Amino acid sequence: MSLPQRVKIFEVGPRDGLQNEPAPVDTATKVELIEQLAAAGVQAIESGSFVSPKWVPQMAGSEAVFGTLTRQSGVTYSALTPNMRGLERAISAGVTEVAVFIAASEAFSQKNTNCSIAEGLARAAELTKVARAEGLDVRGYISVVAGCPYQGAIEPATLAPLSKALLDMGCYEISLGDSTGVATPGQTKAIVDAVASAIPINKVAMHCHNTYGQALANIYAALEMGVAVIDSSVAGLGGCPYAPGATGNVATEDVVYMLNGMGIEHGIDLEKLVQAGDYIITQLGRQNDSGVARAMLAKTNN
Ligand code: HMG
Ligand code: MG
Repeated sequence: MSLPQRVKIFEVGPRDGLQNEPAPVDTATKVELIEQLAAAGVQAIESGSFVSPKWVPQMAGSEAVFGTLTRQSGVTYSALTPNMRGLERAISAGVTEVAVFIAASEAFSQKNTNCSIAEGLARAAELTKVARAEGLDVRGYISVVAGCPYQGAIEPATLAPLSKALLDMGCYEISLGDSTGVATPGQTKAIVDAVASAIPINKVAMHCHNTYGQALANIYAALEMGVAVIDSSVAGLGGCPYAPGATGNVATEDVVYMLNGMGIEHGIDLEKLVQAGDYIITQLGRQNDSGVARAMLAKTNN
């Protein structure tokens, strides 16, 4: 299959990135990051999560983030919701798109959401039904699609019924999470192949963490299979609190640079994106995990 002409970038830094920061990040900083991302042309920004603050205290302030944000038309500001309580909070905060999340392994499902895969699917189905009835769009995630930190390898065939179940309950798109970044390109192709046997390829998104440095190669493999939605995190922020050792998502800057080189449209201004990444990195006092950003900033700083 040929490469897509246009790719949608689904930015997850303000959620997947900041949920994993050891020090609390204040609302104003989160909002500034989200607004800079929107100003750079990012059209889908996962801006927080309404999970239990006992489980992920970093996201406890998501009401304040959504309440403070100046929303641009044409930009979707979404949030992760694990249960009905989370959905109610999201609706009260004026969120128009939420995401449900399940796992491909029983062990990860228990660690991340304290329930079995079947219970997770049932929760997601109930939530999705209510959210759709309220006029919200719902995205679905499957975590640990390539390997589970507690249980080991995942058979790609197990992903087909899970993807179909999420799509059938009303999710508009299924994001395949390589939560610990263990996949390699051949494995990514096997994963996409298995999922595409159950749902249309235009409903599939890739969500690659870059722990083993394979994310861009995996994304290229997925693009070759016809996947045209890529999750990424500015400056490579992130990880998952329940996936030990997992580092950030693939850096948005690195994906955008690669797409630019291949002549694939995405609508994002790379210079402004790098500035947004530099902003949050400076606030957090941590290193920028985007090679592209480091290279571009080194040029402008000299
Ligand atoms: P639980 O402990 O089984 O639930 O957690 P519970 O119903 O017994 O609630 C425990 C306490 O939390 C109670 O408070 C609830 O009220 C409260 P208490 O009575 O003890 O004072 N609570 C809530 N508070 C606010 N908002 C809520 C909420 N729900 C319960 N929504 C639960 C079950 C699912 C809630 C918990 O396991 C949870 O929040 N898990 C989310 C963990 C998480 O956020 N993980 C990271 C995101 S997923 C990810 O990063 C992967 C992804 O990026 C893709 C990939 O990379 O693979 C998406
Ligand atoms: Mg993730």
